[in-house]
Amino acid sequence: MPANPYQSIESGTPGRIGWRIHYFDEVGSTQKVAAELAEEGAAHGTIVIAERQSAGRGRMGRSWHSPPGLNLYQTIILRPAMPLAEVPRLSLVAGVAAAEALETVAPGMVALKWPNDVWLRGRKAGGIIAEAVTDPGQGLKCVLLGIGINVNLAADQIPDELRDKATSVRIATGRLCDRIALEAALCNRLDSRYMEVQQHGFAAVRPAWQGYSALTGRRVTIVDGDARIAGTVRGIDAEGALMLDTASGPTRILTGDVSVEGAYD
Ligand code: BTN
Repeated sequence: MPANPYQSIESGTPGRIGWRIHYFDEVGSTQKVAAELAEEGAAHGTIVIAERQSAGRGRMGRSWHSPPGLNLYQTIILRPAMPLAEVPRLSLVAGVAAAEALETVAPGMVALKWPNDVWLRGRKAGGIIAEAVTDPGQGLKCVLLGIGINVNLAADQIPDELRDKATSVRIATGRLCDRIALEAALCNRLDSRYMEVQQHGFAAVRPAWQGYSALTGRRVTIVDGDARIAGTVRGIDAEGALMLDTASGPTRILTGDVSVEGAYD
């Protein structure tokens, strides 16, 4: 393995997603390394990739299984000019970019589960987390966009507790996948989708997200702490909220600390 196998796909100048890719053999979490680089002033579009993570983080305090040499674990430093409340939309934008990149290696198998899961053939192959870094006045300094994709993980390398729900590109397609080429596709799609949102707003990528939506028309239960809301998914609105038809009428669910049950039935 060369010192930085991803250096060959760095492209553009500071401000383009993927202009600089920092590569590590092992980190605790790429989120933490990226936070340190961002604090030192790293430009928009800087990426941190690791071969393995000893403390990979998922949403809602979960861990992210991060064995070495198989998958993609990365954090992208974004410096958007947007209100803090709109940051969760960036994980939806990243979901579209990840779906479009995966389409190149697993055509017809990709779907998105609101808010942040990437599916291949109905199982989770990727997850996205968008963490905002704020200044003392709560202004947005940057966003740490974490993306984990199971690429060459084999079925017998999935931990028992994830076996029914997780997959990888290799499992879904039956083929090994070139991680560098997949990363190049992801940088291209994310840079393009991000610019689209900057110019035209989130509504511009909404149709693409809806096109990949795994849950539209399905009955699900939204879990928010102790609260539960059951309903049928109608899609997402122009602000990225999940639209649900419930017994008490149409309901908008905002991205936050919620999870969706019933999706794997
Ligand atoms: C989720 O589905 O809960 C989100 C998972 C995000 C995992 C990625 S892997 C790279 C980056 N570093 C982390 O510690 N987490 C994110």
